[in-house]
Amino acid sequence: MKRVIVYPGSFDPVTYGHLDIIKRALKICDQLIVAVSTNPIKKPLFSLKERILLLKESIKEMKNVRVEKFDGLLVDYLKRKGARIIIRGLRVVSDFEYEFQMVLTNRKLDEEIDTIFMMPTESYFYLSSSLIKELALLGADISRYVPKFVEEKLKEKISHAKSQEKTF
Ligand code: COA
Repeated sequence: MKRVIVYPGSFDPVTYGHLDIIKRALKICDQLIVAVSTNPIKKPLFSLKERILLLKESIKEMKNVRVEKFDGLLVDYLKRKGARIIIRGLRVVSDFEYEFQMVLTNRKLDEEIDTIFMMPTESYFYLSSSLIKELALLGADISRYVPKFVEEKLKEKISHAKSQEKTF
């Protein structure tokens, strides 16, 4: 039986930190699904379609991984995909509380589902998509945190937002 693992998140946008987790996860499964959340609570900078496209471009050289959108409960999505394992990146200690809540909530929803945590390379420990968006907005060099095409898309978004006098 194939071991399918789901890596969920908002990926707004994908960073080298996420890609680091994807590469690590691929070592322990047959098929990895990167599941992009439509999470209505978070107000993403990139549309769902853009987030998916950026991820697809980032993983195009990798095997056994695909990108999909998901909405509704994560545990229901896993069931539909025949998966029982969620993978999450664990970075700083402050991630722990939130992740702990999610694991326990998912477990209450479905006892069969388990979560595995992986730590990214330490140079990506402190990374988050918001931090990168802030750096990009302030004109800092973000090339060491995201692939080139993500950097370009981010700059495009920012100059568009600035021309519309919007902030995020
Ligand atoms: N490298 C860099 N950044 C990382 C990272 C890594 N390895 N891992 C996480 N992050 C960052 C993300 O960029 C994101 O940054 P931001 O807040 O600045 O945007 C932040 O950490 C949060 O991570 P993310 O994986 O995007 O989590 P999320 O909170 O957006 O997504 C879901 C959480 C989608 C998995 C969760 O809300 C969910 O399961 N939703 C479905 C509904 C459901 O079933 N709810 C009940 C479950 S508790």
